[in-house]
Amino acid sequence: MIDTEIIELNKYFAPEQIIKAAQALKSGELVAFPTETVYGLGANAFLAHAVQKIFEVKGRPQDNPLIVHLHNPAQLSEVAKNIPQITYLILNEFAPGPLTIILEKTDKIPAQVSAGLDTVAIRFPNNDVARTLLSLAEVPVVAPSANLSGKPSPTKAWHVYQDLQGKIPYILDGGTCTYGLESTILDLSVDQPVILRPGIITAKDIKQRAGIEVIEPERLDQNLKHPKAPGQKYRHYSPMAPVVILQEESNLEKRIGNLKHGIRDFVKNYDSDQKDLRIGLFLAEDLVNSFDLEKLTKSLNASTCYKLHFQIESYNNDQGADNAARELYNQFRVFDQQKVDLIICSAEPNLGAGIAYMNRLSKAASYNI
Ligand code: TXA
Ligand code: MG
Repeated sequence: MIDTEIIELNKYFAPEQIIKAAQALKSGELVAFPTETVYGLGANAFLAHAVQKIFEVKGRPQDNPLIVHLHNPAQLSEVAKNIPQITYLILNEFAPGPLTIILEKTDKIPAQVSAGLDTVAIRFPNNDVARTLLSLAEVPVVAPSANLSGKPSPTKAWHVYQDLQGKIPYILDGGTCTYGLESTILDLSVDQPVILRPGIITAKDIKQRAGIEVIEPERLDQNLKHPKAPGQKYRHYSPMAPVVILQEESNLEKRIGNLKHGIRDFVKNYDSDQKDLRIGLFLAEDLVNSFDLEKLTKSLNASTCYKLHFQIESYNNDQGADNAARELYNQFRVFDQQKVDLIICSAEPNLGAGIAYMNRLSKAASYNI
């Protein structure tokens, strides 16, 4: 066990506050830090023994490669070679930002980083704490999401503490991550660029802003048996309780009917000696405002052998799925703490942030209602 220090940083933090963490990082220790997507668990990319610690601390399968984080475009040629011209068009538009690109790797990248592949994943995070840490550490930093393997990625410092307390010396607390879901992964090492993991930056954004046509994730999913991002084959993003998706439905009343039915069916078929049954609901505001939960609870309590408890969290989706995306992983962890027996989340349209939200939600979910 080592002491884990949480260094709290507000938006006016001074670089001096993270010098000791940056030095520890450079010399081979692991440091967790915020990015605009999720918290990362950093190690000096050039020290094989430091990189190896990441796999041990996270319980991460050795065949799952890591993303190299940079702060200065001049570092690119240190880690990647034979860089295609479109890379610069893309970086011009999207770096720093929530986008990871795959390029051919140089020999400076240890085999553990790329899990034996001849490519490397690279990202320029857009978060002041991350950028300051990277520039003080003066080296490329590999950073997977700072969770134990199989748990949802952390979007707040307490999530990291929950998973990695006693295992790493520093957690830099920069508050809640802006986007809350992992970066888009775009493979530029192939003839036709392809999105390997959907994120906040979509194929449409790339077409509109950089003028580049990329293959979309849906087409790749048909081929999931041989995913090109090795991490995509593992079970991911999961809370302890089963997750159910409340499907889209343009008629609100019908959707609420589906929700009530889904809850009734679950309760009816639930087979347990316990008396209390907890259900976590993560739903759009308009849904929450349109049905009488108290009435449903009373009727379930009267007609089944369980005493029902609902934990509700709602989000506003007037402007799209950004709020749902930002809160999803946090809500999974909160529901875990509340020891719920079932989680129901509302689906969002497959547009903008909704694409990544539905991708992560579908990976966590057991069935739809
Ligand atoms: O937003 C993010 O990307 C966060 C923050 C911390 O930057 N990081 C993150 O890392 O999500 P991680 O390790 O949880 O996910 C990295 C993904 C895995 O699915 C891995 O298989 C894929 O990137 N990957 C890494 N190197 C690759 C490569 N050379 N080719 C294909 N996929 C690669
Ligand atoms: Mg991860």
